[in-house]
Amino acid sequence: MPNSSPLNVLENHSLKEYNTFGIDVKARYFIAARSEAALRDTLSTTMFDGLPRLILGGGSNLLLTHDFPGVVIRMALTGRHIVGRDNEATYIEAAAGENWHDFVRWTLTQGLSGLENLSLIPGSVGASPIQNIGAYGVEMKEMFHELTAIDIASGEIRRFDDTACGFGYRDSVFKHEQKDRAIITSVSFRLPHQVQLHLNYGEIPQELTRMNIANPTAQDVSNAVCNIRQRKLPDPAKMGNAGSFFKNPIVDQTRFQSLQKTHPQMPHYPATDSRVKLPAGWLIEQAGWKGKTLGRAGVHAQHALVLVNLGNAEGAEILALATAIQDSVQNKFGIRLEPEPIIV
Ligand code: EPU
Repeated sequence: MPNSSPLNVLENHSLKEYNTFGIDVKARYFIAARSEAALRDTLSTTMFDGLPRLILGGGSNLLLTHDFPGVVIRMALTGRHIVGRDNEATYIEAAAGENWHDFVRWTLTQGLSGLENLSLIPGSVGASPIQNIGAYGVEMKEMFHELTAIDIASGEIRRFDDTACGFGYRDSVFKHEQKDRAIITSVSFRLPHQVQLHLNYGEIPQELTRMNIANPTAQDVSNAVCNIRQRKLPDPAKMGNAGSFFKNPIVDQTRFQSLQKTHPQMPHYPATDSRVKLPAGWLIEQAGWKGKTLGRAGVHAQHALVLVNLGNAEGAEILALATAIQDSVQNKFGIRLEPEPIIV
């Protein structure tokens, strides 16, 4: 059957190229959906009845721990365009399979700003709303307009606005009630004409100074973010990883104050409802894990929140390291870290 079906189904296909951890497991069936029609055909064929299904975007937020016994559908729909403009904003849309960073760069070449702080985040446009990607003081939801998704049961196209997406910190309905019900096919964004650059987060000011830029443009901010990310985060093409492996935990005031008594130097950020967000990278470093390895899995020496594949690691080895870190952070701080990637 390989390559013979009109759906171009590949059998026992390696997923190594399709996950940024570079884990070499196989999919029993693999299809690259290059059009909405191909996606619909894949969903409606009886060929995969009773088998599990996995939708793959850029594979940058995924840890594969075993061969996948069902069908893997890689979202390969492409296309991006300006949808329209009003007095306040420009509306743009991109298909789910577009590479996120290429899309951000394209918006900048169109003279549009808003997404620059989200430069160089690995992954696809279609995956960006699932975990409401964020970096350097900006979350995707701030520029989000709406998305279209195929309802798996009915095959109908559904539109989700901001409210319907239920965005939270690295979270949306697509991680919960819509998880196996809807497949995102395109996402549109609203980029206001009034340029409002976010320059004060983390190392951005120092980087702009280093670049000798006093009055930055959106393109400059994007370049600064790329420089910072390239310094701190490993390039998945060279060393497999999925960015931050854990979410930053959010604790209530009582817990925060008691932790601060024992760890007065602990960095912290305000979260909603007067709760406090703590940097998981700091907690992991304090627990002694930065730069450590377990089998072929490691904790990145420049950033303790990033777990890396040191070469031919199995997903189970990355998971074993993650669990050891969770246990030791829990012992030291009483906080159970939650993984950010989807574990399959
Ligand atoms: N820190 C340490 N040791 C470390 C790493 C960090 O002490 O090894 C401390 C830093 O000194 C700083 C704090 O932790 O005080 C926060 O670190 P950083 O600014 O690097 O950001 P983060 O909270 O670790 C988040 C996102 C990243 C995003 C950066 C920059 C999450 C889970 N991660 O990381 O997103 O790029 O902020 O905005 O929210 C991703 O989600 O994959 C990702 C890379």
